[in-house]
Amino acid sequence: MKLSVLSGIVANALTASAGTILWDGRFNDFTSATDLNNWSWGNQVGPYQYYIHGASPVTSYVNLSPDYKNPADSGSKQGAKITLDNTAYWNGQNMRRTELIPQTSAAINQGKVYYHFSLMRKDVNAPATTREHQIAFFESHFTELKSGWLSGAPGISDPLLRWCVGGDTKWSVNWDADVWHNVAYEIDFSAGTVGFWHSTGSSPLTQKVAPVKASTSSNGADWHVGVLELPRSGYPDTNEDYYWSGVYIESGSLTTSVAGPGAPPVVDTTSTIKTTSSTAQVSTSTTFSTSTTSVRTTSTTSSAPAATTTPSGCTAGQYAQCGGVGFSGCTTCAVGFTCKFSNDWYSQCL
Ligand SMILES: *[C@@H]1O[C@H](CO)[C@@H](O)[C@H](O)[C@H]1NC(C)=O
Repeated sequence: MKLSVLSGIVANALTASAGTILWDGRFNDFTSATDLNNWSWGNQVGPYQYYIHGASPVTSYVNLSPDYKNPADSGSKQGAKITLDNTAYWNGQNMRRTELIPQTSAAINQGKVYYHFSLMRKDVNAPATTREHQIAFFESHFTELKSGWLSGAPGISDPLLRWCVGGDTKWSVNWDADVWHNVAYEIDFSAGTVGFWHSTGSSPLTQKVAPVKASTSSNGADWHVGVLELPRSGYPDTNEDYYWSGVYIESGSLTTSVAGPGAPPVVDTTSTIKTTSSTAQVSTSTTFSTSTTSVRTTSTTSSAPAATTTPSGCTAGQYAQCGGVGFSGCTTCAVGFTCKFSNDWYSQCL
């Protein structure tokens, strides 16, 4: 009885967030950031291209931990801390850069798609307010976030986190420490528009800027998950940390829940987090990971967790969900596609 009620809730949660994940960059398959080294130009495996960084080992620039994610993002096992230190110069350039790029052949650069991520800074190793930072940007800069003093602007420093289209600020907020900013770029590559969805903490995304005209273009391998800092004479390098979670791209309908697609229903945890102090947040999220672990151990470890009721003889197409706790759709993928495990609550035909 209890179980069927629970799986009903899970099924409803999945139906409510009905977007199709085109590419999943949530680090759920990563043991540690050194898994990024699996990728090379000669062996393009895993969800991320990792080549834009300084010459030190990967853990100087990227580290993963459950402590680095938005606690409300229950679809992510862990988040990433992306760092600029005094070695973070890539390829002889004078800009500090640590960036990850989606490794996928999925159609992330066509039609209408949503690019999701959450971003946070702390007071320790805060991004400098005196230099321009380009964050989560495309090569052509048709859409991106920016922080710090904008190159060429009057004055010395700038406390804002901005959303920009072609370099023009369309939305901004004071970038305070310890606040998770949840973002979705609503990109329509056919119509040539981009809109902006945003929330803080555990609140669902809302549209802050309706789609505006933009020179939308991407080769499908030029979204930079990370940061590029422009040089500025007289302002020395300081160590900077950027915290990321919930990075994924979807098509279809937008998932507004920060928990993300395929997340387990943990409604009460988020309300506890909201009302507790930041010290308590750590223990709440620790408790939560423990309970996640216990859920994980009771569910199957196969690539497609057992469905409650599986329609027989049906197949799921490319990018369709094919497994996950409480999932009751087709678990067999169409010819040419494999049901790939993302997390216990979501497997997908790829
Ligand atoms: C990276 O490679 C190791 C060794 O083959 C493997 O165990 C691990 O799952 C890979 N990581 C990812 C994220 O695919």
